[in-house]
Amino acid sequence: MIPHDEIMQIVGSVAQQVNREYSSKDLPPVILVTLVGALPFAGELMQRLEFDPLVSSIKASSYQGLNSTGHIKISSAPTLDLSGRDVLIIEDIVDTGRTMHYLRQYLMQMGAADVKMCTMLFKPEKFKENKASIPDMEEPEFIGRSIPNDFIVGFGLDYNEQGRCLKDIYVLDE
Ligand code: IMP
Ligand code: MG
Repeated sequence: MIPHDEIMQIVGSVAQQVNREYSSKDLPPVILVTLVGALPFAGELMQRLEFDPLVSSIKASSYQGLNSTGHIKISSAPTLDLSGRDVLIIEDIVDTGRTMHYLRQYLMQMGAADVKMCTMLFKPEKFKENKASIPDMEEPEFIGRSIPNDFIVGFGLDYNEQGRCLKDIYVLDE
């Protein structure tokens, strides 16, 4: 679906959007990489940032197999003090948006001054369906590319933990 060189263009586009937002701020944001899927994307993105953020990670899971369970669990919390800080979440993909919505609330409760999110990929159709039941759910601020409702693997994205190390992104053939 997306060959490696196109993924690099997507990374470049997100870097540009994020640099525009944060490079002139006095206090750089705290970046939270969502484990495990966002690791390859975050690794590439971090090399293109024109500011010097603090970096930590957070692990939230909602998926089993092909479907979002809608029930989100934080299994590894950020270790940095977030109080009064701008936080930028790095995600691999936003699908229903429920994980992001939950993370925003969770991080605001931890004292963050502002929470924004950047995502490599976004599935707008699924997001719109879900927004009908959760009206205050916000879209990611920085989006690499919007894609149709397929289930995809590669470049960090998995199907039951498999396929994360593929260099390109593929649609899973059911
Ligand atoms: P959401 O809460 O439905 O937005 O789910 C977001 C999370 O589900 C992402 O961080 C991914 O880990 C996972 N996910 C959503 N769509 C896909 C996909 O097509 N392939 C692999 N993982 C996915
Ligand atoms: Mg994820």
